[in-house]
Amino acid sequence: MPRSIVLGTGHAVPDRVVTNDELSPLMDTSDEWIRERTGIQERRWAREGDTGVEYARQASVQALEMAGLDAKDLDAIVYATLSPDHFIPGNSVFLQRALGAGHVASVNLNNACNGFLYAMSVADAWIRAGMFRRILVVGQELVSSRLDISPQGRAVSVIFADGAGALVLGATEEPGRGVLAWDLHTDGSYAENLWVDGPGAAIWPPIAVQHIESGRYFPHMDGREVFRHAIVRMPESVGAVLAQAGLSPADITLLIPHQANLRISEAVQKRLGLRDDQVYNNIQFYGNTTAATIPIALDECVRAGRLKAGDVFVMTAFGSGFQWGSALMRW
Ligand SMILES: CC(C)(COP(=O)(O)OP(=O)(O)OC[C@H]1O[C@@H](n2cnc3c(N)ncnc32)[C@H](O)[C@@H]1OP(=O)(O)O)[C@@H](O)C(=O)NCCC(=O)NCCS
Repeated sequence: MPRSIVLGTGHAVPDRVVTNDELSPLMDTSDEWIRERTGIQERRWAREGDTGVEYARQASVQALEMAGLDAKDLDAIVYATLSPDHFIPGNSVFLQRALGAGHVASVNLNNACNGFLYAMSVADAWIRAGMFRRILVVGQELVSSRLDISPQGRAVSVIFADGAGALVLGATEEPGRGVLAWDLHTDGSYAENLWVDGPGAAIWPPIAVQHIESGRYFPHMDGREVFRHAIVRMPESVGAVLAQAGLSPADITLLIPHQANLRISEAVQKRLGLRDDQVYNNIQFYGNTTAATIPIALDECVRAGRLKAGDVFVMTAFGSGFQWGSALMRW
């Protein structure tokens, strides 16, 4: 059975840096509060007129270049976002056009913070099934324009940010390499603990001034409940993929946790007994870019030479749903 290996990675973020000090007067918050609770020092927010697909295109071009491939060599695109440029069709369609790819298969996934992990699992399953051999996997968000930039929204809006990461997955017949284990879960009992209620078909009328005025279209989060579950589920899930591969935390060269909150990543590291050099965090500079956190971090690690042939690499995520999961790869 073929397995999936990473052929190339890339990322792109808006050039607009937004510091905590810039947000403080708008949201009645402070640099100290944000750093202490989340670890975030600054984030990137889009400029008016930017599109998410353009970030994704830039990230994808870098990933294709690293892979030594042309967009025409791709068989498929799997695109994760909770903030698509348009309601229909999904961003994968616009990316196919922007890249000049062939008439490839493409799929759009909205799995929030788990978006990239699930996108990769779809691509990996296609590769294992022998359906496709070269797949572009993208995680991208442009959420800053949908946040409540007022004191009412401060607990949520200081966290989230924009950006895109991409990777090209390819098939290999070499044994023992590539994606070796998956662990993916959902518990819908917590659906309303981190959600955006509308616009949606359950709301009548789906789009109305009163819903805008009441803040119903903004993200809402029970931060404490998210925190409490994340620090249990992520280590549990990393443990599950390690067990499948017959490995232990000491065997991990690099863990990339979804960049939800630096305090969550630190708690996950502690529970797994990992050293600082085994865990990669960049939320300090990008905030939480939801589906884009893992591929942005992965690209930074790859370009910094943090992963060598044979290294064990784990990605883990937790977020809205609640959904959570992990993937384990041998580089
Ligand atoms: C969001 C989070 C930082 C909030 O921290 P917390 O200690 O739980 O804070 P609470 O929501 O209980 O609020 C505590 C106080 O801080 C205030 N507060 C909330 N956001 C604030 C902000 N940005 N600036 C200043 N004060 C803020 C609250 O109003 C509250 O004030 P009160 O005590 O006077 O009522 C924290 O819960 C968290 O990190 N959760 C995980 C969230 C996450 O990772 N989400 C992404 C998932 S993918």
